[in-house]
Amino acid sequence: MKIGVFDSGVGGLSIVNAIKSALPESGVIYAEDKKNVPYGNKTPEELYELVLPILNTLSIQGCNVIVIACNTVSTTIIDKLRSQLSTPLIGVEPMVEKAVQITKSGIITVCATPTTLGSERYKSLKKQFAGDLKFLEPDCSQWAYLIETDQIDRYIIRGIIGDVIQQGSDVIVLGCTHYHWIEQDIKQIVGDHAVILQPETNVIAELKRVLKLPG
Ligand code: DGL
Repeated sequence: MKIGVFDSGVGGLSIVNAIKSALPESGVIYAEDKKNVPYGNKTPEELYELVLPILNTLSIQGCNVIVIACNTVSTTIIDKLRSQLSTPLIGVEPMVEKAVQITKSGIITVCATPTTLGSERYKSLKKQFAGDLKFLEPDCSQWAYLIETDQIDRYIIRGIIGDVIQQGSDVIVLGCTHYHWIEQDIKQIVGDHAVILQPETNVIAELKRVLKLPG
């Protein structure tokens, strides 16, 4: 069984690690787009041009399923990609429903790229689940690039995360897979004040469902 994983850059490696530890017998083929990372400010049209050939290659390499480990791509063009590929695609998107279920303060933070935050899919998730709850969407537009180039600065993270905690947010949704690599820094800042959500468990459950593996 071959599982393809795609992201613009190092974000997808967090998903690769999660798959390897949950499904050790699977073969994982990882594809990234180092030449064009970051994706977070690109338009859906630009993303489509970049991503379709890469997914086609993963299909030709014999992947039984492909995980698009990129919120920016999943929230904008996954349906269009599905219409072009026979290989099943699994996406990741900000965990709005879960955040709504667990917030007590009613103030949810979503950290994601500008393209994800501006996507129709993200807006529809909020419309479907969020009711009157308050959403904070701080400017994390540089984070993926800084993580990719190993220049992330704890002061930048502290500035943004400290602020949302002060505003009473008790759930922080990591809506970009690159942010996995700063999850521990975020944890240190939020302590017990907030729960951090990221999609690895959902991806594994979805993979098991698609591949018909025991849960
Ligand atoms: N890791 C991706 C995401 O989940 C893309 C980040 C980027 O390239 O800007 O959105």
